[in-house]
Amino acid sequence: MMARSKLKIAILISGRGSNLQSLIDHFGPVITGSPIEIVLVLSNRPDAFGLERAKKAGIPSLAIDHKAYPDRAAFDAAMDQAIRASGAEMVVLAGFLRLLTDGFIAGWRDKLVNIHPALLPSFKGLHTHARALEAGVRFHGCTVHYVRPEMDTGPIIAQAALPVRPDDTEESLGRRVLEAEHRLFPLALRLIAEGKVRVENERAIVDDAAFAGGVLFNPMGS
Ligand code: GAR
Repeated sequence: MMARSKLKIAILISGRGSNLQSLIDHFGPVITGSPIEIVLVLSNRPDAFGLERAKKAGIPSLAIDHKAYPDRAAFDAAMDQAIRASGAEMVVLAGFLRLLTDGFIAGWRDKLVNIHPALLPSFKGLHTHARALEAGVRFHGCTVHYVRPEMDTGPIIAQAALPVRPDDTEESLGRRVLEAEHRLFPLALRLIAEGKVRVENERAIVDDAAFAGGVLFNPMGS
């Protein structure tokens, strides 16, 4: 059988890039048999630590400072041009903290994926861990989804859920969610690269994956 060619992705970041690091560790240049090739890491902030991670891994990286552009449309057009020049077939938002224009999103429909630190559609936006604690939910987590123009919406590809503990703080909960993100994102991108994810009627259908059974309780009783 002929080997499937690698899915070329561009990863967009704004900061520390711990999710980027996880993707480099799973799919970077030294990983044999990776179904994905990271062809570009792009940051809107020139001082993002994630750019150093890309350089260290030998992955092409670029900063396009949004402050140098008159408006969102001009900034997004510059990003779009750089991404297309890289040969990327898909765009991955890994802690990219700027809103994208409808035009950019439409140009990458079903080829634009985001990770969000909450179980969508709950807790869209920022400060998700503090808001989950405030709401008193017993489960929290993270979501990988295709991007649609309305913020933090779009077909859900994969989620990781974890129990909230009574003594959790924003920091402790955030730490566990971030660890889950580092596992969930590569898992979801691998499924896409293997051709197992398609969008039908605005839902993501995942073929040939294993699905958890059972019911989780939190608290579990006395
Ligand atoms: C991650 O927790 C990611 O889910 C979140 O930003 C963090 C980036 O961390 N993204 C969003 O909130 C997008 N709405 P990282 O730079 O260490 O990967």
